[in-house]
Amino acid sequence: LSTTEVDLSAIEPGQAIKTTFRKQPLFVRNLTTEEIAQANEVPLSALRDPETLAERTKEGHENWLITLGVCTHLGCVPLGAGEGENKGPFGGYFCPCHGSAYDTAARIRQGPAPTNLVVPEYEFTSDTTVMVG
Ligand code: FES
Repeated sequence: LSTTEVDLSAIEPGQAIKTTFRKQPLFVRNLTTEEIAQANEVPLSALRDPETLAERTKEGHENWLITLGVCTHLGCVPLGAGEGENKGPFGGYFCPCHGSAYDTAARIRQGPAPTNLVVPEYEFTSDTTVMVG
């Protein structure tokens, strides 16, 4: 299976890009301090698919949120990465197909999607480069 190298150096805090990984959309987001705090403030009991931001990111790189850009409901591509500013009511991503809203850790918070956006296997190969897959 193929891997994808992503250069993080041009992604500013608060920005997210959409790229591709194994022919699927891949979201790479540089979380701001506020967005990290927002994610960490949510009690796990409030989550449909309970996971902490720390579990969804790499140690020492908690600001880099890397997920598939595929809604876990029926597979639409959510908004909020490289397509305007529609991050939805929870500040992460918003799926326009049936209204699933994801938070700043890309966890499902509202709407029909059953689970969080999927975090693929990846590793940092330098401070500004990740290898996905
Ligand atoms: Fe995203 Fe249905 S596919 S809400």
